[in-house]
Amino acid sequence: MDNTTLLTELVYDQIADSLAGDGYIILPNFLPDETTQQLYKHVCNLPDKEFKMAGVGRNNEKQVDYKIRSDQTSWLASDAIIENAYLSVMEECRKELNRRLFLGLFDYEAHFAHYAKGSYYQRHIDAFKGLSSRVITTVFYLNSDWNEEHGGELVIYSPDSNEVLHRILPKFGKMVIFLSDRFPHEVLAAKQDRYSISGWFRVNNSNSLAVDPFN
Ligand code: OGA
Ligand code: MN
Repeated sequence: MDNTTLLTELVYDQIADSLAGDGYIILPNFLPDETTQQLYKHVCNLPDKEFKMAGVGRNNEKQVDYKIRSDQTSWLASDAIIENAYLSVMEECRKELNRRLFLGLFDYEAHFAHYAKGSYYQRHIDAFKGLSSRVITTVFYLNSDWNEEHGGELVIYSPDSNEVLHRILPKFGKMVIFLSDRFPHEVLAAKQDRYSISGWFRVNNSNSLAVDPFN
């Protein structure tokens, strides 16, 4: 399977138009089910030691703070076939977004996230202007049979008020993409294991402090 041609021009157009307009997009079926299923199996089978408690704070002051977030994360790398497949799709996506939006996106980093029962991530923003190289956040959900009673919604707030823009169930195959410095968001407590891939398209801005406030 050629994983780099999984997305169509139409999807790239939709993502680019939405980012340039509202600043976010929610795509219910981002990848073929088979690929999503492989990612789900893979993350479920990763040994515990691959996961670290997620950190909060700048690079050199990073610490684990259970009050803020209680998920565990594991960075994707290109040596595992299915991780490489996902990173290849996102690499293609990076190029197509650059072509359309001239954002100068330089690379993409991503980690699996596992929210065990009761885990959450308090309201936060992924990037602060001038302080982070993260420009676009992507969150891809791997959970089959997820519904309202399982909690774990991603709540996205309006940039300039407390208004809730969306409450998003972390359902199998759903992709959420938004401008990293624009939207405060939180993950409500999950009532069962919740798996996702968080990722960030980044610029190579050596003028900024080149540190990311989270992870
Ligand atoms: C993050 C994040 C949201 C989600 O990893 O920074 O906000 O729904 N994730 O998993
Ligand atoms: Mn976030």
